[in-house]
Amino acid sequence: MLAETPKDLLRAAAEAARNAYAPYSGFAVGAAAQTADGSVFTGANMENASHGLTVDAEMGALQAASTAGKLSEIVQIAVVGGRMEAGERNRAVVTPCGRCRQLILEAAHLGARDIDVWCADLDLTSIHRFKISELLPHGFGPANLGMG
Ligand code: THU
Repeated sequence: MLAETPKDLLRAAAEAARNAYAPYSGFAVGAAAQTADGSVFTGANMENASHGLTVDAEMGALQAASTAGKLSEIVQIAVVGGRMEAGERNRAVVTPCGRCRQLILEAAHLGARDIDVWCADLDLTSIHRFKISELLPHGFGPANLGMG
């Protein structure tokens, strides 16, 4: 684990994952976004019998930050996940899906900064840091729309 690893943020994401509503996939994900002033906004995946309506953990965390007026202030986000059955756990880190990468990139564009994305398994035994620019290179953003 790197010295600068934000353990509290990763723990907040793991705590959020405990409230995942994921009866269909059995896969819990938690996310915790931290803003420049130290505020933390969390989310957990929320599935639906109509599977396509599932809300991802990152979406919840980003929405909460946005509702607080702090979407532009996100500096890092932790994403942790894994199978809910203890016996099925593995140590693979969870990286954000394509849609969530696009949502994180919007916050990065808004704040004019590259956001750190800390990815881990549910038990925080494997931790990997990415930049959103690395997870979604050449991403579509406001500039493509002729804005800013
Ligand atoms: N999931 C997330 O919450 N975030 C991601 O970035 C990837 C996938 C959720 C959706 C679904 O409830 C479960 O993980 C399995 O795909």
